[in-house]
Amino acid sequence: MIDNKKKNVFISEEELARQREFTALARELLYERFGDTPKAFVHTYGCQGNVADSERIKGRLAEMGFTFCDKAEDADFVLFNTCAVREHAEDRVFGNVGALKPIKEKNGNNMIIALCGCMTQQAHIAEKLRKSYDYVNLVFGTFAVYRLPELLYSVLRKRKRVFDVQNESGRIAEGIPAVRDRAFRAWLPIMYGCNNFCTYCIVPHVRGRERSREPEKILAEARELIAAGAKEITLLGQNVNSYGKEPDCGVNFSELLRRINALPGDFIIRFMTSHPKDCSEELLRTMAACEKVERHLHLPFQSGNDRVLKAMNRGYTAAHYQELCRMAKELMPDIALTGDVIVGFPGETYEEFCDTKRLIEDVEFSSLFTFIYSPRKGTRAAEMADPVPAKEKGVWFRELLAAQEKIAAARNQSLVGKRFRVLIEEREGDLLIGRTSGNFTIKCPGDASLVGSFAEAEITEAGNWVLTGRLV
Ligand code: SAH
Ligand code: SF4
Ligand code: F3S
Repeated sequence: MIDNKKKNVFISEEELARQREFTALARELLYERFGDTPKAFVHTYGCQGNVADSERIKGRLAEMGFTFCDKAEDADFVLFNTCAVREHAEDRVFGNVGALKPIKEKNGNNMIIALCGCMTQQAHIAEKLRKSYDYVNLVFGTFAVYRLPELLYSVLRKRKRVFDVQNESGRIAEGIPAVRDRAFRAWLPIMYGCNNFCTYCIVPHVRGRERSREPEKILAEARELIAAGAKEITLLGQNVNSYGKEPDCGVNFSELLRRINALPGDFIIRFMTSHPKDCSEELLRTMAACEKVERHLHLPFQSGNDRVLKAMNRGYTAAHYQELCRMAKELMPDIALTGDVIVGFPGETYEEFCDTKRLIEDVEFSSLFTFIYSPRKGTRAAEMADPVPAKEKGVWFRELLAAQEKIAAARNQSLVGKRFRVLIEEREGDLLIGRTSGNFTIKCPGDASLVGSFAEAEITEAGNWVLTGRLV
């Protein structure tokens, strides 16, 4: 039984071998067209899942002989990996695609332009690209990433536009190498897709059904990452807590965490995103018991009102959410909680919005990702009556930001004088930027050689958004 199901989930070895043949063929055509060092510019919009996809896309491109550049102007091949989660995200992509037209004309129209990712998986967007953006050569959806060699080969050989945006049942391609920007911070996808169908959300429509990678494959990749110098591994999925259910791999998310935690090496583990309806006591206890798992839980709640939560199809109540936060704090007194929240869901009243405000005051999030509801074509919420004007929603939105700012400022003040182990991520001017276990950003003076390593920092000053410190 399980085997049959798994066959449908994993892309076959034969197919992957076929793609390797296309890689070699595309390489030759690229050489003829662009010389021996074809350059690619890959730009990623949206979530870490998209970032991880782009790393694998770059892996494919590197196999075809591409090197990478930072500007579209310098590239022979430009790829935008797009996000569809809100209208604003889509508008930005269209604006940037428009800006490519004169760049392409300047380069004698030789440049190849491609779009992929969540936007392209929607029929009306693919149609718009087909009709109104004739200088875009290749459009492929989220299920077609593993076929990129074949698709690019077709573009090069036939000199025709290629669209591959079929809605296939979700599948997993293993064994595609990733090109990562920084070895010390690694994204590790453990599952793809989402089955939750929150009524406002486009993700299940464009990313397909939930499917988990095999635990052995994940552990093997984690070992490789650690050997290559990873200091932070972030496990990725739209709903990581339901890892291991589809297809049943006999290992749940807590068990996967324990197994990764047991790998030797000096590294930390993060994960996102968790869904409150699947966030179990076992998971919280596992976090508390695993020394490599950071003290940070990102747990989107979306609303603090039960009627709205039901209309969103979230599958929990505000009281249940608050209980989870209470339990997390009891088991891990130093835990930092963060969340996502939507203001102005169709039909939400001001009184219902006030329940959301009360929830954030009760939980005391260390930070919050706040969004104004954006209707997404094809979702159930887009069909609901939405009488509150945008201007009014803007007022509520700012009210929520102000409430959260107060909470964060008080919390930040309480951190002054405390010491944290931080992973130094980069250097801006003469300040190092590091992150604590709870995901707080600390800026402190220090040497660039520390980037990518752990250091001890003491907080000396707290602003509303930034903590300043010194290395100890
Ligand atoms: N899978 C994750 C989040 C995915 S999208 C989860 O379930 O938590 C990230 C966030 O974008 C969501 O948590 C939600 O707050 C926001 N979001 C999603 N669709 C939206 C929409 N149509 N309008 C406004 N915000 C939206
Ligand atoms: Fe979207 Fe809900 Fe799935 Fe998150 S859990 S990706 S918000 S449908
Ligand atoms: Fe955006 Fe797709 Fe991620 S819609 S948020 S890039 S899964």
